[in-house]
Amino acid sequence: MVEDTTILSSVKFTQTSHAEFGGVVPSLAKRDHEARIDEIVNSAMLKAQCSMLNIDAIAVTVGPGLAIALEVGIKKAKELANRHNKPLIAVNHIEGHLLSPLATLDTSPYPSPIIGEGIKGRGINFPAMGLVVSGGHTELILIEEIGKYKIIAETIDDALGEALDKAARILGFPYPGGALLEKAAALGNPKKYLLPLPMAGKEDQNQFSYSGLKSAFGRLISAQKKVLSTQEINDLAAAFQNRAFEHLTRVVTKSITPLPPLNLRGGGESNEPRVILVGGGVIANQELRRHLNKLGEELNLKVYFAPTELTGDNAAMIGIAASFKAEKKQFVKDFDNIDRLPRWRIDQGITPPFRHPS
Ligand code: KG4
Ligand code: ZN
Repeated sequence: MVEDTTILSSVKFTQTSHAEFGGVVPSLAKRDHEARIDEIVNSAMLKAQCSMLNIDAIAVTVGPGLAIALEVGIKKAKELANRHNKPLIAVNHIEGHLLSPLATLDTSPYPSPIIGEGIKGRGINFPAMGLVVSGGHTELILIEEIGKYKIIAETIDDALGEALDKAARILGFPYPGGALLEKAAALGNPKKYLLPLPMAGKEDQNQFSYSGLKSAFGRLISAQKKVLSTQEINDLAAAFQNRAFEHLTRVVTKSITPLPPLNLRGGGESNEPRVILVGGGVIANQELRRHLNKLGEELNLKVYFAPTELTGDNAAMIGIAASFKAEKKQFVKDFDNIDRLPRWRIDQGITPPFRHPS
């Protein structure tokens, strides 16, 4: 439940049933969504002390994502909007991650470094940059204004989160292993093993790429030909993570540097720092935050991270994105026309329905 960008309540249920299969199992995802959705909606309303009477609109993720899971949310949102005669807002999942750093958490139970500031309090003006790093996406985005986006760089194969999960799996950690890899890496020496730097020398091509790094990692592990000690696992985790983050920051640097500064300045004086909003599940990683803070210092870029509570998938970030659309009355015109958009790109426009490439 959100009021503008303030989070009144945030209820999450994380599905653990996929771990033993080493990845998301679509039928299990659908089953768990269906089993939990009513209690989650009720619990969010109760925690925010809201009834349907004080709700102005209902927002729902329509893509990108797993079609049969999206379908569960869309069905529920349509049902609520119809029954209570509320406008419906269709939100892009990536726009949710992208705008999650704008959350104001002053009435929530979470501690936050950005309490009560909102966009205006923090002096964020647009255009600004955005970076989304999740299990499915690695995208550097130019935010011309809220609702108008250009993808500046994206991955040509695996997403960063996906690559970390695959490396974690190679080391024997359960899915999704990104957070466990971080813990191991924190105890390891990143220089003990040498891994190739993806796209070395080609960082100006606006492309991220992680599959080569993952294959090299697989080969490095096979070459060990013995059971790895805990210290070796930690060192390997650190080597992989470090290379993956180094590649990310290099491409971000090369992609941002040539952009015209006036187009990107934080507003006001021309020497004001540029701004970058950073969201997505992988941003829970402290080492990645350090890499990006360093990049911020080097590029005179103010870095705003999503609060840790909003890094992984959550409905609050969808509410925040929806609040900007509600302000512009960007409601779904015909409920029967709204459908899942599993491959909806953030640069395709922000008001479905539209045809998307199949
Ligand atoms: O945004 P998200 O919750 O879901 C998607 O939209 O994909 O991101 C999930 C990804 C997974 O790959 C997971 O391993 C990764 O975020 N992740 C982390 C950490 N916590 C979650 N990766 C690295 N370090 C972490 N602490
Ligand atoms: Zn996500």
